[in-house]
Amino acid sequence: MTQSDNPGQGAQMEFRGRMSYGDYLQLDKVLTAQEPLSTAHDELLFIIQHQTSELWMKLAIHEIRSAIVAIREDRLQPAFKMLTRVARIFEQLNSAWDVLRTMTPSEYTQFRGSLGQSSGFQSYQYRAIEFLAGNRNLPMLKPHEHKPEVIAALEEILAGPSLYDEALRLLARQGFDIGAEADRSDWRETRTESEQVLNAWKEVYQDPERYWMLYELAEKLVDFEDYFRRWRFNHVTTVERIIGLKRGTGGTSGVSYLRKMLEVELFPELWKVRTAL
Ligand code: HEM
Repeated sequence: MTQSDNPGQGAQMEFRGRMSYGDYLQLDKVLTAQEPLSTAHDELLFIIQHQTSELWMKLAIHEIRSAIVAIREDRLQPAFKMLTRVARIFEQLNSAWDVLRTMTPSEYTQFRGSLGQSSGFQSYQYRAIEFLAGNRNLPMLKPHEHKPEVIAALEEILAGPSLYDEALRLLARQGFDIGAEADRSDWRETRTESEQVLNAWKEVYQDPERYWMLYELAEKLVDFEDYFRRWRFNHVTTVERIIGLKRGTGGTSGVSYLRKMLEVELFPELWKVRTAL
């Protein structure tokens, strides 16, 4: 029998009136959403790199939100699985920089002017991830004021406890003294670091066998932040490689702003506890 006798090896080949792969994935929408504004060859790479990052961020948000609920309900095993996935998503995003790094400054300058003042700085999904994790940097709401639906979605996140807040509430439920943190009801502001929380984590790390679930949760959080830090580091290095010390299209000082962001800590006591052990 030749290949032309049975071309699809029994596969469905007729899709009139049936849902196909492209229908299910709405590829008509996804694959027509790339509209370069210049004729530069590399603009398509730039657009796809950002769009795919946003898609992965969408999944990360979905996972972090569910992990928050799972921790709240003391369902730690499912939360661990979701947090592992979030770390893997960031690992994936970290590898993606290798593709973008193939673009030289000469190539980027050919279409940078087309971007106007748009910049990843205005990525509301990135802010959603920061807010969900616990970095509630409220001035970052400002660029979205012209979009009430974006503000509403971000405010909804800010109204509830973050991932780290839920971890701390779990510490309290398990009998640890976390100080004033235990009575918090306003979640909008970034919390301040506390000695009691540091001491609670210290106790957990000093006796992993006894507090295995909390110990594992702490390590999952550190894992997530570790990969997130690497994303920031890869970003700033790629940015320096491509635009040097020029200002960003979003208006910040560029590389020096991004270097400052490397200092942001999502789960501060979990990093400090390493020194305390
Ligand atoms: C040629 C590639 C890139 C360049 C030159 C670049 C440059 C910059 C610069 C200079 C900033 C600081 C804000 C500003 O003034 O514009 C920034 C912020 C940001 N970029 Fe990029 N970027 C690139 C690729 C990407 C990609 C692929 C993503 C993925 C979504 C991304 C996401 C972000 C985010 C989320 C911020 C905000 C960071 C923060 O505020 O901590 N960037 N970028």
